[in-house]
Amino acid sequence: MTSLTSLVYMSVAVDELTDHDLVAMLREARLRNDALGVSGLLLAKDGRFLQVLEGPAWSVEDRFAAIERDPRHTEVQSLSREQIESRRFDGWAMAFGSPSDADVLDEPG
Ligand SMILES: Cc1cc2nc3c(=O)[nH]c(=O)nc-3n(C[C@H](O)[C@H](O)[C@H](O)COP(=O)(O)O)c2cc1C
Repeated sequence: MTSLTSLVYMSVAVDELTDHDLVAMLREARLRNDALGVSGLLLAKDGRFLQVLEGPAWSVEDRFAAIERDPRHTEVQSLSREQIESRRFDGWAMAFGSPSDADVLDEPG
């Protein structure tokens, strides 16, 4: 099996993105990710992003390099980069979540 890389980073949004901006960005991201075999998860909360990118190493690095240059966010900080045996977000060209405070407060801890 080809080895897969999983990369996690956090960043700070430069301007509050509107829902419309986010949807447009996701639509494009999903097309590119699909073409490159990248899957993952993007969370947006309180002006911060957390994203997991997974796929063949070269395609993850290609997308991360483009994402790092994106002026819509700053302080892009990679948190982990690891080899994985199988995808955790198989079938998601980029899953998206934006948990509300109510969702988060309902959880213990
Ligand atoms: C928070 C955030 C997450 C993004 N996620 C992706 C992504 O998963 N895939 C992708 O292709 N572009 C993503 N983008 C858009 C890229 O930063 C970039 O604009 C796009 O890939 C075009 O770059 P390129 O023309 O250099 O390939 C994201 C941008 C932001 C701000």
